[in-house]
Amino acid sequence: MRVIVTAGPTREPIDPIRFLSNRSTGKMGFALAEEGMHRGNDVTLIAGPVHLSTPDGVRRLDVMTADEMCEAVIANVSACDVLIMAAAVADWRPAQVQTQKMKKQDGTQSLELSRTRDILMTVKPLKGQRLYVGFAAETENVCEEALRKCNAKGLDLIVANDASQPDAAFEADTNRVWLVDASGQVHAVDLMSKRAVASRIFDRIDTLFASR
Ligand code: CTP
Repeated sequence: MRVIVTAGPTREPIDPIRFLSNRSTGKMGFALAEEGMHRGNDVTLIAGPVHLSTPDGVRRLDVMTADEMCEAVIANVSACDVLIMAAAVADWRPAQVQTQKMKKQDGTQSLELSRTRDILMTVKPLKGQRLYVGFAAETENVCEEALRKCNAKGLDLIVANDASQPDAAFEADTNRVWLVDASGQVHAVDLMSKRAVASRIFDRIDTLFASR
């Protein structure tokens, strides 16, 4: 299979010094890229700003903002069989990017934000027979919210994370997830290394891909 994995956060500039971002380290996405290669797939990794080395044999494209990640996915999706959106894409960016450093003033300061494009919704019309896999980071009603997103975004599978746990999701080396498919079937994956979780995710992907 030709697989695209997106990984890491995106970074939305405020001025030449500052940016908005999130806690994603890219570990889960990189583990997926490594596992995908290990299984003999052709893997393209579209990575936001992270401090991780590229797994052997993986083609890596580095991006910074949500908009750049969206363009990279659009440019590559037609040539893939499976798209795995593990990246924690920023939902908002500053409405205006200042060209000079913003100087502090007394009192409060507000920042106007605009919505970024939703990458999965943008490439939904290009889906065809491709398998689309999303991630959902939730702090409550984890599986219910994941299934809602899976259906809203037209996905085949969504990996639900409980982002309120210290040993899972953001920054951790381990993860505990629920694999929720479009029919609402849920497979629980207990706490294990992100690489082992990646293997469970690929087991589901291989099954779903074979039964398309
Ligand atoms: N995603 C995307 N484009 C965005 C934001 C998110 O493609 N601009 C993808 C993520 O990579 C993930 C999935 O959508 O695979 C769900 O992301 P999440 O942030 O959990 O959900 P949102 O749709 O952003 O919803 P909310 O923040 O309201 O929970």
